[in-house]
Amino acid sequence: MRKIPVYYYSSSSNLTGRFAEALARIDGRRVLNLARSDVRRSEPSGPWVLLTPSYKAGNADEVTLPAGVRAFLRSPMTRRRMVGIIGSGNRNFGDYYQAAARQLAQASRRPVLFEFELSGTREDVARCADILARLDEALDDVRNAG
Ligand SMILES: Cc1cc2nc3c(=O)[nH]c(=O)nc-3n(C[C@H](O)[C@H](O)[C@H](O)COP(=O)(O)O)c2cc1C
Repeated sequence: MRKIPVYYYSSSSNLTGRFAEALARIDGRRVLNLARSDVRRSEPSGPWVLLTPSYKAGNADEVTLPAGVRAFLRSPMTRRRMVGIIGSGNRNFGDYYQAAARQLAQASRRPVLFEFELSGTREDVARCADILARLDEALDDVRNAG
């Protein structure tokens, strides 16, 4: 069965990256790092999932979606093919917890598939892998029906 790829952004602290690598190890899913310019310039050829941290800067209306993710989402085709969002955050940010994933979900009308803090726990990785495996199956059904 085709496994939906996960495009992720991670800053130099690499907490989100560690989660993404753990996801890839669990079942061989492809994970692609949007901190790389070649990945940012590419377009997914089919459905894909975004994994993003939130980054709140100074003032209240500041966007929390990392610039690398915003750049990748500039392509209308890429936006259309995004089927869901996974968020990495930190509850210390209170009302802004997972702001990037949640705001993008609202704007794009795609679901937040899973949320975790920092680089997640082993249980988080396993739960997220499970959710993605169910999504793979659902997309496979759609493909077979068409
Ligand atoms: C400057 C800064 C701002 C942050 N803002 C938020 C925020 O608004 N909401 C949130 O849930 N987490 C916030 N976080 C936490 C990060 O999203 C979280 O630590 C994430 O795992 C970082 O991933 P990365 O190391 O891959 O970049 C912030 C962290 C930093 C350092």
